[in-house]
Amino acid sequence: MLVRSPSFGLFEGYLESVLDGAAANNANGPLIREHFGLDDPTAKRGKRLRPQILLTVAECEGADGTVALGAAAALELLHNFSLIHDDIEDGDEMRHGRPTLWTRHGVRAALVAGDAMSALAYLTLVDGSRALPAATVAAMMRCLQEAHFRMCEGQAFDIGFETATFVTFEEYVRMIEGKTAALLAVACELGAWAAGASDARAAAYSSVGRAYGLAFQVRDDVLGTWGRTEETGKPSGADIRRRKWSFPVAWALAQAPSADRTVVADAYATIGMLSDDQTSRVIAALERLGARDAADQACMTYIDEANTISANAGIDGDGRLGALFHSTAKRTV
Ligand code: IPE
Ligand code: IPE
Ligand code: MG
Ligand code: MG
Repeated sequence: MLVRSPSFGLFEGYLESVLDGAAANNANGPLIREHFGLDDPTAKRGKRLRPQILLTVAECEGADGTVALGAAAALELLHNFSLIHDDIEDGDEMRHGRPTLWTRHGVRAALVAGDAMSALAYLTLVDGSRALPAATVAAMMRCLQEAHFRMCEGQAFDIGFETATFVTFEEYVRMIEGKTAALLAVACELGAWAAGASDARAAAYSSVGRAYGLAFQVRDDVLGTWGRTEETGKPSGADIRRRKWSFPVAWALAQAPSADRTVVADAYATIGMLSDDQTSRVIAALERLGARDAADQACMTYIDEANTISANAGIDGDGRLGALFHSTAKRTV
């Protein structure tokens, strides 16, 4: 059963207070608020999954989750900075069901708002972690910077793959390990550090988060191909149109030759965007090849891997983290 961490109930208000302060004191404030949809009560917001994970781990490890709110807000800010830049990098015009910052304000203003949000993330980690020992905060700072660095490496692979004529399945996994799993691994690790867990337990939580992060991105790839815009808030089929190397494609091209595999291979052997017609044909071929089922299975396998690591390391004692992971395996948003 999914049990929400008590401190997560305080998270949205905490994040808003950080953003209120930032908006009052920095020229990037209005764009930062706009990205988060703060000035429109009807605006769709993000799922806040990384903070939820971080606070769940902190509480599983015996902490009062409120000591980890600063770290949780820092991570959410870092994640959202990555989204602002990701939408520029991917040329995506819609997120959370509204125009992306670069679409409304231009690339330059969006880049600098993202940079400001990244800086605010680190300020929030330090300012919001006063209840923790200074050495712990320094260790948390280092691990967040390291995850940020690895996330950028994943993005570099992702961008590079757009102009590659072939990407192996192993290269695809390495890419998602960076772009997505790094921040989910650090969500778990920061929660453990905030609770004063041992280095060994923090490292085990990081491995659990990495495995879950792979599952999370595989699901994101399914939604990027078959998701419904009304639910995801992102354009449908966008990953394929842009010839992104997502799980369904990397999996399909690792299968034995067939007519449907050739449809996908030929489309991905070209450079540049696919037409609407090509996009529909590739998606239909992927479906017939069984790529969607394979992705669902891979997602479950990575979640099982996360649970096995937890069991072997004796962490996530009450299974709350595993239940949270499981609740997102078939997410549609
Ligand atoms: C989207 O992450 C980007 C990925 C790393 C897959 P989320 O799906 O967690 O985004 P929000 O925060 O809920 O919008
Ligand atoms: C997002 O990857 C990874 C980062 C933002 C670092 P994607 O580009 O696959 O995610 P969406 O689908 O745009 O959210
Ligand atoms: Mg993207
Ligand atoms: Mg991207």
